[in-house]
Amino acid sequence: MKDSVKPFSENRFRFHIYITAGIAALAGLLFGYDTGVISGAILFIKDQFSLSSGAIERVVSSVLFGAMIGAAFSGALADRFGRKKVLLTTGFLFAVGAIGASMASGVGAIIGFRFLIGVSIGVASYTAPLYISEISPPNARGALVSLNQLMITFGIVVSYLVDYMLSTGESGWRWMFGLGAIPAIVLVLGMIALTESPKWLVSKNRIEEARKALARTMSPDKLSEEIKTIQNSLDAKPSSWKDVLAPWVRPTLIVGIALAFFQQLTGINTIIYYAPTIFEFAGFSSHKVSILATVGVGVVNVLMTIVAIWFIDRIGRKPLLYIGMTGMAISLGILGLAFYMPQMAEALKMLTVLSVVLYIASFAISLGPIFWLIISEIYPLGVRGRAMSIATLANWGFNLVVASTFLTFIDKLGKAGTFWLYAVICVTGLIFCYLYVPETKGRSLEDIENFLKKDKGLRAFGMMNK
Ligand code: BGC
Repeated sequence: MKDSVKPFSENRFRFHIYITAGIAALAGLLFGYDTGVISGAILFIKDQFSLSSGAIERVVSSVLFGAMIGAAFSGALADRFGRKKVLLTTGFLFAVGAIGASMASGVGAIIGFRFLIGVSIGVASYTAPLYISEISPPNARGALVSLNQLMITFGIVVSYLVDYMLSTGESGWRWMFGLGAIPAIVLVLGMIALTESPKWLVSKNRIEEARKALARTMSPDKLSEEIKTIQNSLDAKPSSWKDVLAPWVRPTLIVGIALAFFQQLTGINTIIYYAPTIFEFAGFSSHKVSILATVGVGVVNVLMTIVAIWFIDRIGRKPLLYIGMTGMAISLGILGLAFYMPQMAEALKMLTVLSVVLYIASFAISLGPIFWLIISEIYPLGVRGRAMSIATLANWGFNLVVASTFLTFIDKLGKAGTFWLYAVICVTGLIFCYLYVPETKGRSLEDIENFLKKDKGLRAFGMMNK
């Protein structure tokens, strides 16, 4: 009897989980769209308001500052109010920011609304993967959480395309910003329909609601056991910042912050924000060709993220990190070499394009999705919100550092030197991953937490699945 209804209900549960993850991942699309859109919009804003370089920097970095502030508060907010309410509110703020920025009459208003969008990105960039990881079964968690990264890359490509298509009219930038309101409104409507994370509900002792939420994702006979498993992974006392710093949690903090460092300091956003500039350094003289080449880079980013999603729960996180980071280090080395030999002008163009493509493909199968995935998996439930927001804050902080130092580094170290510096950081990151990053494939979040509780230190954590 039970067996005959199983296939139907399993499909129904799977469908529900996919839809839930898909809606939450709209936050990723907004993250990608709103960070990518500025590269084209700034060209018009700069002309319309006759901006100085300082003002341009303020417009561009207002989102990154906002994201840092959002990330700083996001953990406490999601632990206190729950994942659903927080995502719903950020969706609303995304929409207000997009509409406000599109109607701004001066540069102050643009900076203000872009800052608001940044705050939403900071909060959403950690709440979405957190929420998705908490509703996912262990064997599909990697793919489902990485859906968020796929949406980030998709959002970036859409923003490049929108920039490209709207780059004729004078007020095109208003549409570039304003169109971001559409996915934001869909996110709000979708989140209204979704349930709260059962894990969070149990942590607040709202067992009946947790039972109802879980009933959408598993058969009734498994509910009590699941609730017990979640309860067992919770500490009796409510979590505080002191708990985040407890020695047994420390390996997870180090891994999260280090992965944030390596994801950003290996230069990804010099490519995402400055790809047209890099192509022009290499000798492409037309803006149009450079922007089109950039769209191509964005598409490779999306496609290789799909490849990563396919492999992430099959071969695991660490093999993908090894393959991808090796590819990143090699392509950064070649990129540096290409700029080191400027006498080979024509070859330089080809070499630059090829190494940028190899670089982005390698990032997309490794540090791109895996940073966000690992920080949604490794932290104990009681401190997950706060700890994850530390890693997210670090990510945005390092992002800001790279975005605001790239052009200065190019001046001081030269193009070759700058890319070689990123290559060296990448090799260091590879060694770090080998030694200290745990393989989380197929393990339940509770299981990871139980391992940590044995308090064996960072090195043992890195060898967890050996
Ligand atoms: C990073 C972003 C980056 C994006 C590119 C994300 O994982 O956190 O900084 O712009 O990937 O795909």
